Amino acid sequence: MANIAKKNTAAVTAQEVPVHVGVIMDGNGRWAKKRNLPRKFGHREGAKNFRAITRHAKAVGVKYITFYAFSTENWKRPKDEVDSIMELFEKYLDEVRDFVEENIRIRFIGDRSALSETLRRKMAAVEEDSKDFNAMTLVLAINYGGRDEICHSVQQIAKMVKAGQIEPEEITQELIEKNLYTEEIPPLDLVIRPSGEQRLSNFMIWQAAYAEFYYTNILWPDFKNEDFDEAIKAYSERNRRFGGV
Ligand code: FPP
Repeated sequence: MANIAKKNTAAVTAQEVPVHVGVIMDGNGRWAKKRNLPRKFGHREGAKNFRAITRHAKAVGVKYITFYAFSTENWKRPKDEVDSIMELFEKYLDEVRDFVEENIRIRFIGDRSALSETLRRKMAAVEEDSKDFNAMTLVLAINYGGRDEICHSVQQIAKMVKAGQIEPEEITQELIEKNLYTEEIPPLDLVIRPSGEQRLSNFMIWQAAYAEFYYTNILWPDFKNEDFDEAIKAYSERNRRFGGV
C-alpha cells in the first residue's frame, strides 16, 4: 500500500483504506470553459484522468473503484457533446485493456440497451477477458441511474413472483441487492465529488446508503493523486456508526 501521511498521526493503515470508492467525475465542462475550449476538451482531459486515478487507487490499496461516466439523464445534453463522450468510451474501451495486464477486473453497470452495438460488444469482451483478475475491480457506470437500477431489480423480482418462484414476503434487501447491476460488488464506503457540488445526482443511491461523502472545489481534470490521498485521509479520520452509537 502506498504511504499516505495523516495530519498528526502515523500513515493511514490498510484497514483505514476504503474498500469501495465511487467517483463522480464532475467539472469537465467548467475546466474547458475556463480555457475557452469546447466542453468536449474537458471530457477528454477527464477521461485521461480516470486512468491515472485508477492506477493510483490500486497502489493505495482500494479494492473497488466506480466512476460515474454517463448518467441516464446525460442524454439531455447537446448531441455533439453526447457523441464526443461516446467516442471517448470507445477509445478508452480499447485502452482499458492495458488494465487487464495489470490484474484489474473491469465491470460495467447501467442500462446497455441504449448503447451502440459496437460499444456493447467491446464492453462484453473486456468483462469476459478480465473476469479472473483480482488486484482491483474497476467499475464504469455508463447510462447509469440509481433509480433506474432499482426499477430494473424490482422488475426482475416481479417476474419471479409472477412465475410463482417466490412469495412477495420473501422479497428481502438481499434479494433486491442481488438483482442490482452491482450484484456481488460491495457497498460504497466513500464517494468523492470534485468541482464543488455537494449532491449524489442519482449515483448508486442504494449502495451509497452509508457511504462517507467527500467533496472538493477542484475540477475533475485537475484532481490528482495527492487529492485522492486527501480524500482517503479524510475518510480514515471519520467515525462510521451505521446507525449505531
Ligand atoms: C461531468 O462533468 C462529466 C460527464 C457528464 C462526463 C464524464 C465523462 C468522461 C470523463 C469521459 C469518458 C469516461 C471514461 C470512463 C472513458 P460536466 O460536464 O457536468 O462538467 P460541468 O459541471 O463543469 O459542466
